[in-house]
Amino acid sequence: MNIILLGPPGAGKGTQSDFLRDQYGLTKLATGDMLRAAVASGSELGKKAKAVMESGGLVSDDIMIGIIREAISDKNCPNGFILDGFPRTTAQAEALDAMLAAEGKKIDHVIELEVNDAEMVARISGRFSCGKCGAGFHDSFKPPKVKDTCDSCGAVGAFTRRADDKAETVAKRLEQYHAMTAPLLPYYRARGSLHGVNGMAPIAEVTTALQKLIGKKAAA
Ligand code: AP5
Repeated sequence: MNIILLGPPGAGKGTQSDFLRDQYGLTKLATGDMLRAAVASGSELGKKAKAVMESGGLVSDDIMIGIIREAISDKNCPNGFILDGFPRTTAQAEALDAMLAAEGKKIDHVIELEVNDAEMVARISGRFSCGKCGAGFHDSFKPPKVKDTCDSCGAVGAFTRRADDKAETVAKRLEQYHAMTAPLLPYYRARGSLHGVNGMAPIAEVTTALQKLIGKKAAA
């Protein structure tokens, strides 16, 4: 099964794709995470991406398409994949269609997490994650059970915040979403594969709505 999650910054794509990965045994392909790993490693890709990401802009289509071409292979995604953060432009969506068609594959669900922009700044500014295992948290909506301790891996004092989560950068990221990514909604609607889920509901309710949409099947 192959899934695309769409929605503006803060919509909950990362939060919910963790659930989909665990529940359905899918491979999570989060392009933002891949780019942040490249920045942290100091690779050529990371050097190219760093300034663009920190300004709230988009990394070039050529680079992103190249990354995904490698990532969606059967070897990497034996049970299928969830795309979180890709495609983000019409050129990326068209390239993805061509890659999948060449391998006789398809996207089963394109899901838009429907949210209000105004709330996204608060969500993003409260976000932090475990620097060791990547588990995501929020000051108000998803605090760790034990202060300064990761619920997933138990690391203590390892929480980090993203460099692009400052209010002014978030505003630019939202602008980019509406200019470059929102046009993908009619693109997928025209193919009959787009479904909307209320992303303003509490995290667990969004998860239940996704489960209902996709089906109850647990990971094999
Ligand atoms: P990326 O990492 O993809 O960031 P994004 O799309 O801006 O999305 P976010 O990670 O900010 O939000 P999310 O929807 O995952 O929300 P989350 O689940 O964390 O991309 C970063 C940058 O990389 C881009 O700006 C660009 O420069 C570059 N890039 C990446 N892909 C690219 C591509 N394909 N092409 C070009 N450039 C690319 O939730 C947010 C917070 O809210 C969390 O704290 C969470 O706990 C909380 N929360 C989640 N759901 C709820 C809820 N229902 N109720 C209350 N709180 C909630």
